[in-house]
Amino acid sequence: MKKFFLMMTTVVCGLIINLSANAGSVESLQSDYQVQGAGPFSAAAGETMWQKEYLDEKSGKQRSCQTCHGKDLTRSGKHARTGKVIEPLARSVNSERLTEVKFMKKWLKRNCKWTVGRECSAQEKGDFLEYLKGQ
Ligand code: HEC
Repeated sequence: MKKFFLMMTTVVCGLIINLSANAGSVESLQSDYQVQGAGPFSAAAGETMWQKEYLDEKSGKQRSCQTCHGKDLTRSGKHARTGKVIEPLARSVNSERLTEVKFMKKWLKRNCKWTVGRECSAQEKGDFLEYLKGQ
């Protein structure tokens, strides 16, 4: 019985550590942005930017975050160039979302460049994350 409790305690502790690491990674990235002078972050501002269309001068086409991620974040998107399926961004249906700082940074950088035509500011990235983490 003692052994069983010990095992259960280990499992539960492991789970808690795992969960808090996951829950914390968006917040930790946002607090990095705050250190850079950004914040407070607004989900509404993030949503507005998420839906906004930016003209790509080269192709003459409009681009937005929805171009690849789709209008409904609880459903899969489709990459505009490669046609590859992109798993839903909403954490309510995809618990693997927004769990890794390195991954978020990489894609925010790349996707801002492609969509907006420049890198996003710390404020803009924080707002995007504020919007996305509520989905
Ligand atoms: C050209 C297609 C494309 C566009 C447009 C695009 N994304 Fe993405 N995005 C991707 C791909 C591909 C990934 C990485 C694959 C994956 O996460 O399934 C990704 C991943 C992400 C992630 C990482 C999610 C996580 O779980 O950590 C974030 C955040 C993100 N995108 C935000 C944005 C924002 C904000 C915009 C608009 C400025 C945007 N994306 C526009 C293709 C795109």
